[in-house]
Amino acid sequence: MKILTVIGARPQFIKAAALHRELKPVPDVQEILVHTGQHFDENMSDIFFKEMEIPKPHYHLGIHSSNHGAMTGRMLEAIEKLTEQEKPDLVLIYGDTNTTLAGALAAKKLHVPLGHIEAGLRSFNMKMPEEINRILTDRISDLLFCPTDIAVENLYKEGFEHFNCEIIKTGDVMLDAALYYGQRSAERSDIIKRLGDGDFILATLHRAENTDNPQTLVQLVEALNRIAKEIRVVLPLHPRTRKKLEELKQKPTVLITDPVGYFDMLELLKHCRLVATDSGGVQKEAYFFGKHCITLRDQTEWTELVQHGVNVVAGTHADNIVDAYHTLSKRHSDFTTDFYGNGLAAKRITNIIVNYLNKR
Ligand code: UD1
Ligand code: UDP
Repeated sequence: MKILTVIGARPQFIKAAALHRELKPVPDVQEILVHTGQHFDENMSDIFFKEMEIPKPHYHLGIHSSNHGAMTGRMLEAIEKLTEQEKPDLVLIYGDTNTTLAGALAAKKLHVPLGHIEAGLRSFNMKMPEEINRILTDRISDLLFCPTDIAVENLYKEGFEHFNCEIIKTGDVMLDAALYYGQRSAERSDIIKRLGDGDFILATLHRAENTDNPQTLVQLVEALNRIAKEIRVVLPLHPRTRKKLEELKQKPTVLITDPVGYFDMLELLKHCRLVATDSGGVQKEAYFFGKHCITLRDQTEWTELVQHGVNVVAGTHADNIVDAYHTLSKRHSDFTTDFYGNGLAAKRITNIIVNYLNKR
């Protein structure tokens, strides 16, 4: 059984690491890794392969830093070529990036079965590139691995039960990764020692809808600056945001670092007071580590966290974000409900894939 895994962006390395650990020991399974190159800085890519012991990709396409059409198109062409060459039994894709959509289109048009990990997520904001990528990817996938009940419901509401696909709730592979690597991160990271004593909030910011609108970005910086007058704000900065802040000559008065590796990130999550982010993955990780989260967007795909009272979707106005900080600082919540499974999602997905391929 040959599985072609297509990854390229930071969150995909983390998700694929969880699955790779389960696929590796299965006899008869051969996983071929394709890295599109979408993320390419050492601390956006290689560091995750090293820390999480993901093997060197069989193919590295080196495609990055262009407009959506050009990037997706070039990836599609390259993945199509090597899919024809490798003749996999299944193509696996993750999440909602341009890498995801390119992998999905290449596989489907060559009639190769397609498995989508993190299927069924919706923000209902069609201006987001991620929403377009995930809807199109879901529609053509054969195996839809949904992390949550809400993801399954979203697919049913869109009529997916009438399509030729399997919808399976598996739990979230990001929880698998956080549990496994979270047990190892304390001995592999000294970031908390380097930060020194004192409370802090952990912030991340990179979504195009925030970085590409100057007014929005300025509001977000103002919010973080105001919070930083009360508590330290640690902001490992995505290269996209760094470039935009430089263009706007904005210098946030918070503790900015380069993007950090996964072990450092896990330690920051464990030790912070709360999280402020526009990241999809980091919202869930806040929950895994028992931290409240201010979502710096107008919608979230992880609505169970909002309903549960641990996540406030604060939008992008500074006043609302600062208010959310004050509200959440005082809130006591339950973080034990298992919205994302029990850390065995990758094992479940592996069993489903093996059974599916055995039946073909
Ligand atoms: C992409 C995904 C987004 C995901 C994010 C994870 C799409 C449409 N977006 O956004 O859904 O949340 O990854 O982090 O696929 N850059 C560097 N070095 C790097 C990586 C990027 O300098 O290692 C720069 C690029 O040159 C580009 C900018 O960052 O100018 C944006 O990169 P891109 O991959 O287009 O999108 P992301 O914002 O990273
Ligand atoms: N992450 C990391 N270092 C950082 C910022 C994020 O290791 O400096 C991890 C984070 O813990 C999570 C993943 O990257 O596992 C989330 O990726 P990102 O926020 O880039 O994308 P999204 O989840 O929004 O698609």
